[in-house]
Amino acid sequence: MTNADFEKIIDTSDEWITTRTGIKERRIARNGLQTSDMALEACRRALDMAVCPPEDIDVLIVGTVTPDYPLPSTACVIQEKLAFPNAVAFDIAAACAGFISGLSIARSMIESGTARKALVCGAEKLSTITDYSDRGTCVLFGDGAGAAVLEASDDEVGVVETYLRSDGSMREWLWIEAGGSNQPITPDFPFDGRDKILMNGSDIFKVAVREMTKACVKVLDDAGVSADDIALVVPHQANIRIIEGVAKRLQIGLDRFYLNIDRYGNTSAASVPLALDEANRNGRIRSGDYILMVAFGGGLIWGAALVKW
Ligand code: COA
Repeated sequence: MTNADFEKIIDTSDEWITTRTGIKERRIARNGLQTSDMALEACRRALDMAVCPPEDIDVLIVGTVTPDYPLPSTACVIQEKLAFPNAVAFDIAAACAGFISGLSIARSMIESGTARKALVCGAEKLSTITDYSDRGTCVLFGDGAGAAVLEASDDEVGVVETYLRSDGSMREWLWIEAGGSNQPITPDFPFDGRDKILMNGSDIFKVAVREMTKACVKVLDDAGVSADDIALVVPHQANIRIIEGVAKRLQIGLDRFYLNIDRYGNTSAASVPLALDEANRNGRIRSGDYILMVAFGGGLIWGAALVKW
């Protein structure tokens, strides 16, 4: 869906969307295609790339705020479709920080010996929770999925450091008010937009720049790695101006940030793994590189992960 498509349905312009967000296009999944269908394809490709049979996976973690069903988890749907006989499968609702949260949990499980191989996926069909009459939000979001396989290793590579934080006091800055136990959708529900994403964009923007920067500094400090040593930053793709703000504060040139926001928009939990996979397949990542991932989203929740490739 292009900016020109939005010009036909809401009061907006390609110029406004491009200069305020950096987004030109986003992918919208067709009707009938579920979050688990996109996740399944991403998981399949990750397993192929890792040459890992599904039966080797001990834990499958899916970051999503757009599960196929309220119950059960999308991870359990995928477990059945791809046949992971030996895995425990569960979702995490950490919005745009879903993949980094999954990575952090998988790392802990591997380090503690609970799991040897983990499959971490971020998958979203945000078009199902987007209000296409709200110009302040609808131009931002897209659908997609990405996944990665992690395994125990004695080599000097892998997830070096992770950091996660949240602050629930700002939860109403980015939320869906209705549809849960607080405000169930009853027969007389007015469908006035409260069952879709509501957002206070400008306040989130400031907190995102500040906390994403702090999260990056924290993992770098904890790992004893300098910003100069980072080969590539793979940030959550929410807004090009947020990424520029983080780059400036970290004093890392934008040329060392992987950017694909122009083609996908904000895909929430899918954003970081989509960018990571593209960067890898495009030859932007070499063996031994330090890769810094960072994300921020509804909760509010944010985090960073430092990986040695
Ligand atoms: N097209 C044209 N005008 C639009 C518009 C659109 N799609 N969306 C909003 N506007 C208008 C507003 O109505 C407002 O008009 P007004 O001044 O007449 O009231 C004006 O543009 C400025 O709105 P504002 O919300 O202050 O713009 P902004 O520069 O903060 O940009 C966002 C809005 C949403 C792009 C920006 O705040 C943002 O990206 N925030 C972070 C959101 C985010 O990343 N959320 C997910 C976190 S993971």
